[in-house]
Amino acid sequence: MDLMGEEGRWWHGAALYQVYVRSFLDTNGDGYGDLAGVIDRLDYLAWLGVDGIWLSPTMPSPDEDWGYDVSDYLGVHPELGDMAAMDRLIAQARARGLRVLLDLVPNHTSTAHPWFIDAAASKDAVFRDYYVWADPAPGGGAPNNWVDATGASAWEWHEPTGQYYLHLFLDSQPDLNWREPAVHREFEQIVRFWFDRGVAGFRIDVAHGLYKDAKLRDNPPATVINPLGHRSGLEPKYSVNQPESHGVFRDWRAIAEAYQPPRLLLGETWVGDYGMLAGFYGDDDELQLAFNFPFVFSMFEAAELSTVVGDTLATLPAGACPVWTASNHDVGRFPSRWAAGDERKARLALLVLATLPGTVVLYYGDEIAMTDVDVPPALRRDAMSRRSAPRDRARTPMPWDASATHGFTADGVRPWLPFGETAAGDVAAQRDDPDSVLSFCRAALALRRAEQRGQIARYELRGRADGLWVYQVGDLVVAANFTDAPAAMPAGAGALLLRSAPKDHPDGDVLGPWEGAVFK
Ligand code: NOJ
Repeated sequence: MDLMGEEGRWWHGAALYQVYVRSFLDTNGDGYGDLAGVIDRLDYLAWLGVDGIWLSPTMPSPDEDWGYDVSDYLGVHPELGDMAAMDRLIAQARARGLRVLLDLVPNHTSTAHPWFIDAAASKDAVFRDYYVWADPAPGGGAPNNWVDATGASAWEWHEPTGQYYLHLFLDSQPDLNWREPAVHREFEQIVRFWFDRGVAGFRIDVAHGLYKDAKLRDNPPATVINPLGHRSGLEPKYSVNQPESHGVFRDWRAIAEAYQPPRLLLGETWVGDYGMLAGFYGDDDELQLAFNFPFVFSMFEAAELSTVVGDTLATLPAGACPVWTASNHDVGRFPSRWAAGDERKARLALLVLATLPGTVVLYYGDEIAMTDVDVPPALRRDAMSRRSAPRDRARTPMPWDASATHGFTADGVRPWLPFGETAAGDVAAQRDDPDSVLSFCRAALALRRAEQRGQIARYELRGRADGLWVYQVGDLVVAANFTDAPAAMPAGAGALLLRSAPKDHPDGDVLGPWEGAVFK
């Protein structure tokens, strides 16, 4: 094993696990998960076999957008813990071979951030230019036609100073002005501060959005409608994806590489175009990992998934490490989106995720086929969901056991979001069952580690006729049956190592409906 593989580029062939901290484990009985809860479950995560965890936002925040509205980039949210707990988490994770990534939100702050409070005080405030302010359009009204994530105007009128400020998300999340050099210096310090504390890297929120068009031009009408933007019929040509953002990533990459082992930059790169996705890797001098949203939003069928995988791999620059994920706190959980609660499909999805080359990112609960929860409107906590998809559905507490509070919080405490039903069972039940989804997921991750750790395995399509997707990845052959009918095992694939269906399944030596298998 070369040093770069094992220690340097440890994410090659690795599995990351997104912990939505508020919903993982509550140790102080306030109904919200906390850092001490994550520490408590590090043994579980090491047992599961992941290589690193990404913590959803941990910095102080008024929580209008649950931590994605940061009021202090150098702190820890008091509801989640304190800096000592964060240091403990990093050290105890490291002792178990687990890396910790934090969520960094550089596109916008909270209106409660001291920078914005100063900036809003007057037009010539010291921090005024940290944000994007603009005069009304010549005829009055918002400066341009950009819309925010709720579909409303992205401009908020600020009466006291007579200008609008920009917010691509909630009006309590003013966008930072990356054309202001001081913003770069601030974030370089922030990034170093956390790297110095032993953080292994960042998931970078809205990485595609940092820079805006210098002239703030109107977005044109959309010509294609897809789930990756184009709200209100506009193509976000000028509001996001500006080429200048790449300079930021090059600067941060240089900082990340100055550490030993190098720190990891994983971008939330919300783009539908493979060329643009590839661009985030730069010339191996920008992000080391970029989330693949065309994969996230693919249909769960052999033809489309295999096409997305093939197109991704064909477009990424040589040596770039692809990222595969199917659930997160925004888009929902794949056991619902892809599998509609069908455990066979969830297992098949896990098998595909665990075998694709590069980095896989699981979301807490994926390993037990946790499904979305239909949170009634009165119990919803996400402000953004009032006008778009109810994101709370994928943020409900982890069901650790069968008790009334599912081992998530203390007896009698009401969790911040309601519990749902997980048909496949809670963690405790599944842990004891060698045929459970959890046991299967663990076996699939162990196989991934044995076969792919430290490398980006070579992928080759072997076939995708009639809903059967067969591919070679490194020394393995994977056959995935995306149909309701049994299928023959692929000829000459080698010895059967792992199959996604439970051991007592009736299909014998054929692939059952919605079953996948790995051979060597
Ligand atoms: C993407 C995050 O994943 C989402 O939860 C958040 O609302 C927006 N970025 C704004 O920060």
